[in-house]
Amino acid sequence: MSHFVVEGGQRLHGTLTVQGAKNSVLPILAATLLAGDTCRIRHCPHLRDVETAREILHHLGCKTRWDGQDLIVDTTTMDCWEVPDDLMRKMRSSVIFLGAILSRCGRAEMSYPGGCELGPRPIDLHLSALRTLGADIEDAGGSLHCCGEKLQGAEILLSIPSVGATENAILAACGAQGTTTISNAAREPEIVDLQHFLQAMGADIHGAGTSGITVHGGKPLHGCDHLLMGDRIVAATYLAATGASGGDVLLRGVPYRHVSTVTTALREAGCQIDCTEDTVRIRSDGQLQGVSPIRTSPYPGFPTDAQAVLMAALLRSTGTTVFVENMFESRYRHVPELQRMGADVRLEGRVAVVCGVERLHGAPVSAADLRGGAALVVAALHAEGTTRVSQTHHIARGYADLVGDLRSLGAEIREENT
Ligand code: UD1
Repeated sequence: MSHFVVEGGQRLHGTLTVQGAKNSVLPILAATLLAGDTCRIRHCPHLRDVETAREILHHLGCKTRWDGQDLIVDTTTMDCWEVPDDLMRKMRSSVIFLGAILSRCGRAEMSYPGGCELGPRPIDLHLSALRTLGADIEDAGGSLHCCGEKLQGAEILLSIPSVGATENAILAACGAQGTTTISNAAREPEIVDLQHFLQAMGADIHGAGTSGITVHGGKPLHGCDHLLMGDRIVAATYLAATGASGGDVLLRGVPYRHVSTVTTALREAGCQIDCTEDTVRIRSDGQLQGVSPIRTSPYPGFPTDAQAVLMAALLRSTGTTVFVENMFESRYRHVPELQRMGADVRLEGRVAVVCGVERLHGAPVSAADLRGGAALVVAALHAEGTTRVSQTHHIARGYADLVGDLRSLGAEIREENT
């Protein structure tokens, strides 16, 4: 077990290239199954969730290997359509393999993905989309037996623009005969990245990034070479950290459009932000003001994944900021830990009110989930004294090298093994 030790109070300076996007690479790794060929995924982040996805691919009979920052996946030898329970429990997004396995093999078996730290995360929309395409899904005591030998293109209407259900529907639609339309699709940039990947494989798909996606399925697909998009949530984390600690940081490899709701809030808080097509520069004196209410919502709204890190940045702001978490039920588990550091945050259901305090102090704190864990680090960077962040394995699910990145910007942070 490792923990992070952070000495607060350093300003952050320098240039950083943002890692490839976790939420892009996971559906793309599932999509590699569609071809039965070799794919190169460039700028692939070394993450715990990527390792879990590799374990799933290996279990299915595929081969993967790292070539520096690239992950090479060979799915030619896939010989299994079942994902074991222990791998399903390790990572909720393993459910994305359902549509891909069904598409390639005409059948799939897996259990429900494990319970999640963010509260209940049903998969009813995933299953309903696959059933609309003609999959026969039997739900027997937590195990899903899916048969879809003859998937047929269809009209899918999602009642919520779920990211995962949109991705599952796209992957299954690629293997279905005929045309599928997905209405009220999620519009997240990661879905556009998945579309680019599938197009490079030869798929006939368009509309990603809008709420209407069309897939003309049944095309023969082949391997491809794909450069992953930059991770907008990692970018948001470093922007929040610099805003709160003060400094001057240039982030490369993340389109400013993908972080525009976060930069809008940080500008309102008093930071100077300058953007080009794929760089974002933030300058801050570390004295932030409270901002207008932050309401999380599907893209292009404020991302739920950036709620915790922005909250952590505003703890010493002048004034008050209201957060409304609309996406997940249990997404304030970082709050009691931030309170240990002297934060004044009041919680009432989905609403959190941050009243800025003059100073935060270091404390022993514990990460309860991925983004909440990153938020503790952001808070520790502008707290007085030493903070020890434990349970950092949650953070390793989504940040390839949080400690190394922050150290390169001048932060005093180190990882210790217990
Ligand atoms: C993805 C992201 C996650 C992000 C979330 C919301 C990945 C790997 N994860 O998760 O980081 O926080 O989008 O932006 O890309 N819902 C249902 N039934 C379903 C599916 C979803 O009711 O079948 C609900 C969820 O409970 C939630 C909302 O829809 O309230 C949105 O969830 P969804 O977009 O599906 O999130 P994920 O794809 O799980």
